[in-house]
Amino acid sequence: GLALSAAWARRPAATGDLLRSAVPLPEPFTAPLPVPPVLAPVESTADGDRYELVQQEAEAEIIPGFATRLWTYGGVFPGPTIEARRGRHTTVLHRNELPVPTVLHLHGGRTPAASDGYPTDLVLPDGWTGHAGHSMADDRAAVANLQREYGFPLDQRAAMLWYHDHRMDFTAPAIWRGLAGLHLVRDDVEDALDLPRGDRELPLMIADRAFDEDGQLAYPAVDPSLTGEHGVTEPYLAGVLGDVVLVNGAPWPEHEVDTGLYRLRVLNASNARHYELEAVADDGRTVPLVQIGADQGLLAAPVPHDRLPIAPAERYDLLVDFGGLPVGSAVRLRNRLGTGPAADVMRFRVARDGTPAQIPATLAYDLPEWDRADAAVVRDLAFRAGRMDDGRHGWLIDGLPFDPARADVTARLGDVEVWRLVADVHHPVHLHLVGFRVLSRGGGAPLPHDAGLKDTIALRPGESAEIITRFDGYRGRYLFHCHNAEHEDMGMMANLEIV
Ligand code: C2O
Ligand code: CU
Repeated sequence: GLALSAAWARRPAATGDLLRSAVPLPEPFTAPLPVPPVLAPVESTADGDRYELVQQEAEAEIIPGFATRLWTYGGVFPGPTIEARRGRHTTVLHRNELPVPTVLHLHGGRTPAASDGYPTDLVLPDGWTGHAGHSMADDRAAVANLQREYGFPLDQRAAMLWYHDHRMDFTAPAIWRGLAGLHLVRDDVEDALDLPRGDRELPLMIADRAFDEDGQLAYPAVDPSLTGEHGVTEPYLAGVLGDVVLVNGAPWPEHEVDTGLYRLRVLNASNARHYELEAVADDGRTVPLVQIGADQGLLAAPVPHDRLPIAPAERYDLLVDFGGLPVGSAVRLRNRLGTGPAADVMRFRVARDGTPAQIPATLAYDLPEWDRADAAVVRDLAFRAGRMDDGRHGWLIDGLPFDPARADVTARLGDVEVWRLVADVHHPVHLHLVGFRVLSRGGGAPLPHDAGLKDTIALRPGESAEIITRFDGYRGRYLFHCHNAEHEDMGMMANLEIV
């Protein structure tokens, strides 16, 4: 009640710096919703699947009449979806045919450190010699030329993970150019539930972009490896927003549905844009977004929302019932935080009658219930802007920008820890390797959408929150960081060493 509305009142009007496209914006709801192709393994054995992906430049017609050059996984944006099963080992060989070094990270994966995509574990392109002002010397030992094999045990509950670039200082422009794809994990718990399947289960990767007069992706930060100039510019301190909202790579698409139940697997893959999603029918009525899962998998029971905030890197697993809507009507997925064209995301057209279906009353049964009393350590971590040594603005954690050589948090394998996080502005804070529960927000109870197992928590301006997790799985060097990709590139990242 009171705590909740006080927290909502702190919501900012804008969370980044808007780029305006120089191309005529496409008519909304004309492009059909693309669904990323599912990647076929090159080899499958009794306990695992092996895939290959080439990171390469490709063109796509995103804005009608323009061929936009992209950086892609496998020639498409979003990258092909990998579908995996809990406990089956997934191996992906990534070959880098892009003009820049890359790093592959599986966001939300319980991955051994060697395959987690540490920001200096570069895969160099052919002929790469580095460039002035950005010496590769320190990274030589970690460098794998041309290609690298990443191994994912995926011993984790069913969830929608995503893979994306994670190169130090250049993650934001790389994701912006197209380096992102989905990675689904399935398991028996999910299979046992009567959930919409096949073409009734839709992945929705939402990402905003802006286009220059040639229909190319506009980005204010200049990658020095391409131009020799310095990186991110101060005016874009808040993060980069585009005025075109893409879903699975298409601007404001439309998708035909029937009057049955659909499962929407939503990812906010935007660099910096926060959305507050709302499904509104033609007659003005709100269609509930029934949350059945969070970043790291299914909830214990469904949580219905009229409006659902989603920060960069967060995922929601939603059921939407189009029953009761007249055939021929439409439901717009709106963004209440967006203005102008960015206030829309996509549209569903109710094209025919379908079979009514029930939303299961209970879902997963074994969510970890860590208790504050179990915590071996309680840490305070502040996510705030500040000046770096060279006088430039940076985004800092406890006053420091990212340094691969510094130990920040050292956690003992098996320990339960409580982290008390505080933010100056909006910061979606993400931990690698582990899922966590939200214990409190703004000194009060968590919000309804904080339910379940998360790997990213959206801290709002001036807000504090407590999260609890157990560091199990693997020892090694991991990360935690802000997932506003520009903030991450401007230093808001730190080492998480598990010993
Ligand atoms: Cu989505 Cu450190 O990553
Ligand atoms: Cu941030």
